[in-house]
Amino acid sequence: MSFLDRIEERPGAAELRAESYRLLGLKRGATCVDVACGAGHAAAELAAKGLKVTGVDPDAEAIVAARERAPGAMFHVAHSDDLPLEDESMDGYRAVRLFHLLEDPVPTVTEAWRVLRPDGRIVLGGQDYGFLLIDSTDQDLTDVVLLGLESRTVSPRAARSLRDVLLDTGFRDVEVVVRTEVVTDHAVMAEQLKAAAAGAVDKALITQEDADDWLAEQADRGKHDRFLAVLPTLLVSGRR
Ligand SMILES: C[S@@+](CC[C@H](N)C(=O)[O-])C[C@H]1O[C@@H](n2cnc3c(N)ncnc32)[C@H](O)[C@@H]1O
Repeated sequence: MSFLDRIEERPGAAELRAESYRLLGLKRGATCVDVACGAGHAAAELAAKGLKVTGVDPDAEAIVAARERAPGAMFHVAHSDDLPLEDESMDGYRAVRLFHLLEDPVPTVTEAWRVLRPDGRIVLGGQDYGFLLIDSTDQDLTDVVLLGLESRTVSPRAARSLRDVLLDTGFRDVEVVVRTEVVTDHAVMAEQLKAAAAGAVDKALITQEDADDWLAEQADRGKHDRFLAVLPTLLVSGRR
């Protein structure tokens, strides 16, 4: 759980959540489901805004943490393509940082359509791994290392397809907004950098020596306040 907590406590995470609530545009008393709710940060904030919130996640441990964080919300251990919710029972549907984990977004978005009432609002979001920037003296090597990061994720470029998927499912008024996080603290990204380099070695895209040199350069940049990563998150909203 500490991993999910860390994501949500990063600088920029609260603003991203707030932007997703703005796009949902729900009033007090409205029903809203947060799918892939993780440790319940968004569910707690939406419940505090007076919404009737349901959180869903297949990770039972995450649901235990979410119940503690948001005692005013309902929670279920379930998958995004089979929600324990009535047809047309929700005014709002939110799923952020889920689609990179799914082979196919369509069953999940079809299920969102089922549970949303006509005119209900949907907000989906996540990072597109093909759209990350990390500064380096060897940009070609960095591009290959980032492919290593992609290789560790089921659907690393899913975020860019979400507009198509919403339109193809029949959603209207589909809008895309981008929130960008700028990270200059190497420690914040150290784990992802290691995962990326290891992924690139595992895929035989680079040698272990390349990986070690690249990681050493990034750590050195961190020591001299020259580390720079830019991480955009796409939020895609629509109306049923
Ligand atoms: C990266 S976390 C994101 C949590 C939170 N939405 C956020 O934005 O920080 C991904 C979450 O998706 C959940 N998850 C994975 N597969 C899922 C599925 N098929 N349906 C619903 N949630 C899923 C995981 O258990 C995890 O809690």
